[in-house]
Amino acid sequence: MSTILVKTATVNYPVLVQPGLLEKLASHVRQACGEQRSIFVVTSTEIWSRWGQSFQSSFTARKIDILPLFVPAGERYKQLKTVEHLAEKLVVAGAKRDALLVAFGGGVIGDMTGFLAAIYMRGIRYVQVPTTYLSQIDSSIGGKTGVNLRVGKNLVGSFHPPVAVFTDPTVLTTLPPKELRSGAIESVKAAVLGDARFFAWLEQNMTGLLAGDQQAIARAIETSVRIKAEIVTADERESGQRMLLNLGHTVGHAIEAATRYRTLLHGEAIAWGMIAALNLSVSRSALTPAEAKRIEDLTFHLGPFPRFRTTAKILLDRTAGDKKHLQSAQRFVLPVAIGKAIVVEDVSQHELLAAIQSMLRTMKERGV
Ligand SMILES: NC(=O)c1ccc[n+]([C@@H]2O[C@H](COP(=O)([O-])OP(=O)(O)OC[C@H]3O[C@@H](n4cnc5c(N)ncnc54)[C@H](O)[C@@H]3O)[C@@H](O)[C@H]2O)c1
Ligand SMILES: [Zn+2]
Repeated sequence: MSTILVKTATVNYPVLVQPGLLEKLASHVRQACGEQRSIFVVTSTEIWSRWGQSFQSSFTARKIDILPLFVPAGERYKQLKTVEHLAEKLVVAGAKRDALLVAFGGGVIGDMTGFLAAIYMRGIRYVQVPTTYLSQIDSSIGGKTGVNLRVGKNLVGSFHPPVAVFTDPTVLTTLPPKELRSGAIESVKAAVLGDARFFAWLEQNMTGLLAGDQQAIARAIETSVRIKAEIVTADERESGQRMLLNLGHTVGHAIEAATRYRTLLHGEAIAWGMIAALNLSVSRSALTPAEAKRIEDLTFHLGPFPRFRTTAKILLDRTAGDKKHLQSAQRFVLPVAIGKAIVVEDVSQHELLAAIQSMLRTMKERGV
């Protein structure tokens, strides 16, 4: 088992990564959180029907009562109303300030449970038990919680770090392959921005990982967690280094918004955003074409990506937000080598447009 410590200004918390952890969860929860608490598990029926028995077993063996609270699966339920319903259920079930919440699901459940924990009775404790690739390496770490509004994603939320994160890569065996591939894009991103050896390892092992090789998956999860944990430790509140995690996300978010979050999974949009970032770096001679090609090849290994229709102009508008003047400069994360990225503040709209156009050409060439 590996234990990776995330240190923040206020607290430190461990991320435990171990295949089979779920069946020993009760003792780990007890160790991290103490004995007295009543425990509420926020999950969905989809996840509970597959993994509820494993989850429950160690609690039953220790005669610890847990109460599952179900929320419907899906991004569209990541909203205040769902959090309000959950809070009401907690009150009815008698949850006091010493209650412990467990987020047992993907990033949607993790973000909502964290937010509920942040505001229920002005703040209670929670742990994360992430069940998707993306939530295991990304959303469960860093303490960002929140929900969507109709006018935009993640607009209401708070920083509320968990007491601990318990990650069992075994649960990924039931994940739809598309979700696995989409999550793995964030591993490629992590390697590109921070770990050249991991990148080379991914090149060698991606085929096995996608075919479900448990050892490869566990190693990729562990290394990706380490990269994110290090960055979050250095910069919890996203003033500097944490920005690096946005590699590929400037254009990626624009693609998600332009396709109304319906056509592509998050990682698939980020894959295209990374291609645009590579183009920009190469055009500035900040990255060699040979390195860009390696990153592009590994990214496309995670395809095929779904077709979507848009224009460079639409994407530029979405990317620029309120900075629509062609003269204005934009903050952007540039890969400058395999294993290193930097944040620059001076990307012009012309440069960005050229990078997006070149990304759209790549789409055509690749037959997407
Ligand atoms: N807080 C952060 O720092 C942060 C970072 C990145 C993303 N996010 C958020 O994370 C969310 C996306 O998370 P996600 O990609 O995990 O999506 P998700 O939570 O919607 O899960 C994806 C799908 O997989 C299913 N599922 C989950 N675990 C499963 C399993 N083990 N087996 C089978 N099916 C399973 C879910 O029911 C769902 O249908 C977004 O809302 C995003 O904003 C947050
Ligand atoms: Zn992302």
